[in-house]
Amino acid sequence: MPRKTTVRGDAGEPEPQRRDLGAPVHPVVHAGETIEDEIITVTLRPTRFDRYVGQRDVVENLKISIEAAKRRGEPLDHILLHGPPGLGKTTLANIIAREMEATFRQASGPTLERPGDLVGILTNLERGDVLFVDEIHRLSRVVEEFFYPAMEDFAIDFMVDKGAYAKTIKITLKHFTLIGATTRPGMLTAPLRERFGIVHRLDYYGVEDLRTIVTHSAGVLGVPIDDGGAHEIASRARGTPRIANRLLRRVRDFALVRSEGTITREVACAALELERIDRLGLDPLDRSFLRVLVEQYGGGPVGIAALAASLNEDEETLVDVVEPYLIQIGFVARTAAGRRATPKAHAYLGGAPASEHPRLL
Ligand SMILES: Nc1ncnc2c1ncn2[C@@H]1O[C@H](COP(=O)(O)OP(=O)(O)OP(=O)(O)O)[C@@H](O)[C@H]1O
Ligand SMILES: [Mg+2]
Repeated sequence: MPRKTTVRGDAGEPEPQRRDLGAPVHPVVHAGETIEDEIITVTLRPTRFDRYVGQRDVVENLKISIEAAKRRGEPLDHILLHGPPGLGKTTLANIIAREMEATFRQASGPTLERPGDLVGILTNLERGDVLFVDEIHRLSRVVEEFFYPAMEDFAIDFMVDKGAYAKTIKITLKHFTLIGATTRPGMLTAPLRERFGIVHRLDYYGVEDLRTIVTHSAGVLGVPIDDGGAHEIASRARGTPRIANRLLRRVRDFALVRSEGTITREVACAALELERIDRLGLDPLDRSFLRVLVEQYGGGPVGIAALAASLNEDEETLVDVVEPYLIQIGFVARTAAGRRATPKAHAYLGGAPASEHPRLL
């Protein structure tokens, strides 16, 4: 389970107020996942670099930063990890803390509403501790500004009491490392972005790396799988380890009920067809997105708000989850005038079944 952080209340409060800041549940990627899925996600999370598959440049650079910090006997510089959901940002932050032999503490952008929420967390950090802030682009402006001196000078000015008794006290912090994760680096303000000494982007994984992940996960879960089965799941996982592991669990259920139990290519194909995941890994929402873009808007260009309205879907889901992969595989282009379907998308739709997104039926 995610590590939990306990937060002290505002300075000046008679009884410290305790609040639990568990890991945020991503509203999109976790959709349709059960608590059991979430527990498995945590179980499957690699805890060391040698089990972290792919992202070789990022891993290589991080290893150097960690080794250098250790040799200097200094805490690590602040790190910003960005990239689409499910590519391993939280996993990487955990690994970094462990490699630094540091305590890992976690908070998430939306739960840090007031500077007071942050004071408790920051003053509890020891030298070298890692504070992981997920969805850092969702920090409120006032909390974000509170972070600036904390990150730069390891000090904060905090107002205690109210009215006539109000006074500002300066609190010195221990030298901690902030690791921020975001799916939307463009939404960070320049001053916040500039305070991260190390910035890495995670990219979609290739099929080979995903096959390695699926095979390893199957081993952990005790599910028999052959190379063909692992390859089939990997190639339909939208370049995303979280999806690869999720598909593996669905195929595992199918294999148990409908076949001998071993996941072969045939079993994986049949199970994923049933889940309506096609050979490219596209699901009903992806296909509906393409259909609306092509059939309703003549292939674009069209704004994301209009697409979201037509699909009756959350704009954030489209921008964070649906679009990046369609852009990655060259089906959609993002232009100044809006989203455009490419000839590849038109060709693909030629052979796709009619609209099937539940909300369009
Ligand atoms: N490089 C990797 N090697 C092996 N497994 C991985 C790797 N990256 C991610 N995973 C697996 O994928 C799952 C999701 O990863 P993680 O939660 O770190 O993604 P994330 O980028 O933080 O996603 P989100 O944006 O939704 O918070 C993990 O449980 C882990 O099992
Ligand atoms: Mg995460």
